[in-house]
Order: sequence, then C-alpha cells, then structure tokens
Amino acid sequence: MALILALESSCDDSAAALVTSDRQILAQAVVGQNDAHRPFGGVVPEIAARAHVEILPGLVRQVLHEADVGIGEVDAIAATAGPGLIGGVMVGLLTGKGLALSAGKPLIAVNHLEGHALSPRLVDPELDFPYLLLLASGGHCQLLEVSGVGRYRRLATTIDDAAGEAFDKAAKSMGLGYPGGPAIEALAAEGDRGAVPLPRPLKGSKEPHFSFAGLKAAVQRAVASGDHAHADIAASFQQAVVDCFVDRTRGALRLSDAPSLVVAGGVAANQAVRSGLQQLAEQHGRAFSVPPAWLCTDNAAMIGWAGAERFAAGLVDALDAPARARWPLDDSAEAVRGAGVKA
Ligand code: KG4
Ligand code: ZN
Repeated sequence: MALILALESSCDDSAAALVTSDRQILAQAVVGQNDAHRPFGGVVPEIAARAHVEILPGLVRQVLHEADVGIGEVDAIAATAGPGLIGGVMVGLLTGKGLALSAGKPLIAVNHLEGHALSPRLVDPELDFPYLLLLASGGHCQLLEVSGVGRYRRLATTIDDAAGEAFDKAAKSMGLGYPGGPAIEALAAEGDRGAVPLPRPLKGSKEPHFSFAGLKAAVQRAVASGDHAHADIAASFQQAVVDCFVDRTRGALRLSDAPSLVVAGGVAANQAVRSGLQQLAEQHGRAFSVPPAWLCTDNAAMIGWAGAERFAAGLVDALDAPARARWPLDDSAEAVRGAGVKA
C-alpha cells in the first residue's frame, strides 16, 4: 500500500490530500478563491498564484495533522505540473518539490487532465481500462479513449470554447456569479428547458468534435432581447449542452468499443449532464461511471489518485520536472480543422 501526499493549484482552487493506493482518502481540503476573483468577473492569474502561496502550506499541515501522518510516512509527493495558469502551477509544483527534497521522497508531476481522467477509478474499483471518457471542465472539452495510465487517444475536442467556459459565460451574461455552472444548474431547476430555441452546434456532424461559441452567442442574444425569463434561458441552455454532449458522445461510441462510458471534469458535477450520458450508455449497452460531484470539480484527491496510479507503474519524476501551461493528454492529436486560435 502506497501513501501519496498531493497538491493541486492549476486554477483557482488550492487543494491538498492524502490518498492511498487502495483507494482511501485519509484527509483532503479544498479552499476556493471565489471571493478574491468575484469583483473581476473571472479568475485573475496573478491573484490566484499569490493566493496559492498563502493557502497551500497550511493545507499540507492540515491534511497531515487530520490523518495523523508524518511526512516521513508518505511514499511520494504528487503535484499538478500543468496544464493551467502557469503562476499557480509553479507555486504548487515548487511546493511539492520542496517537500520531496526535504523529506527525501520521490516527486510525481501530475497532468491535471490525467487527474480528472483517472478520478472515476478512485471511487469505482470495477472500472477497468479501456474506457471512453468525456472530459468536460472549465478549460477543456474532449472525448478520449483511456487505455491505461499515460495512454490516451483523443477522439474529439472543442473547436472553440470549453463546455465549462460556456456555462461561465452564459451565467455572466445573466449577471450570475462565478463559477457559472452551479448557478446555471440551480436557476435551470426553476425554468422550462423547451422555452428558448437555442442551437446545438455541430449536432449530427461526422466527427464528434464540440463547439459552444455559437450557443454562447445565442444565449447572449436571448438575454439582451429581454423576451425570456432568465430561468427559462438557463434551463434551455443547459439542455442544449446536454444534447450536444449526448450527440457528440454517441458519435464517439462508434469509434471506440470500450465497454464503459465515463464522464469527468467540473461540468460532470451537473445532474442533467450525468443523467443524459447515463441514458446514452444504457442505450448502447455500455457500463456508466461518473465520480461524485465533489470529485468532478478541482480537488487534490484526484491528483493523489493519479499519483498513486503512476507510482504503482514506476513513473516518478526528476526534481527539475517543468511546469507546463499547455500539456495535452494525447500529444499525437492534431489541431482540428476549423478550430479557432485560442490561448
Ligand atoms: O474541473 P474544474 O473544476 O476546473 C477546471 O479544470 O477547469 O471545472 C470548472 C468548470 C467551471 O467552468 C464550472 O462552471 C463548471 O466546471 N461547473 C459546472 C458545475 N459545477 C462546475 N458546470 C455545470 N454544472 C455544474 N454543476
Ligand atoms: Zn480541473
């Protein structure tokens, strides 16, 4: 049994966790920075990096204390090394390197996306490789075939916005707070999902790529028109995203005969998304797995679990492992034709 101390700092959540290779989470803590960023209507990278500096060391002490574990008992230190906002990634990775060096423990530089991608296996021991994964977060929207640790084949990606970004921008256009996903989901519960006609970009197109820019613009127009209740817009928008997910994922099921369909990443916390994809899996005779909502949004338990999987495979990193703003899971995947140039 291996014990991993994990750090996460790629966006606006500071997190630490102690996770074992036999799927126990001995302690974990997440501190969001929503209040710090709210006045700016989005995440400010410099504010996030500074907040990670202030918050992370205390979280490490807290999880060790809660689990009554000394740093000497830990087998390895796992830290997110990208992709994400580079200042925050550097803070977490350097904190991890400092702990690894001073305690004489190996460092595991974890790809944040691999954290999301493997997270369902932390809570679902039955979920074996390979599986088809819809990874939908604030920065990414991809369909991947996951064949093992470090083994990803990208089947589709977004040609413009990520799904979470669409939720956040739709929320912003209605004056809802950041992050927008939970706010839209709550408001949608009071609305009529058939009330506002909205597009389903790329629906029916041959390759299972995603596009959300046109949907976002349509929401902005619906809000500006003043013709609709915001709850109806929220419900209609959420339904449009679910329809796109289901249609695009149905296309990907033709490209992969993996026995299970899995959804992960922050947007997978959404109940309508979860049930839409579960139905799709049932229709196609695939098993379905989705982590609990707290494990979908950013946390360090998933980084610890990815660390445990990598540690078991003998994959540890040197102390000069780089922080990476961009770090695709499938680096052989080519840019998609029609994709806008986005930072
Ligand atoms: O995975 P995550 O926590 O961070 C990134 O790696 O990006 O994902 C954050 C995204 C945000 O865009 C947020 O609005 C969205 O996930 N999100 C949701 C929900 N909870 C978080 N979207 C829809 N419904 C939710 N309940
Ligand atoms: Zn994430």
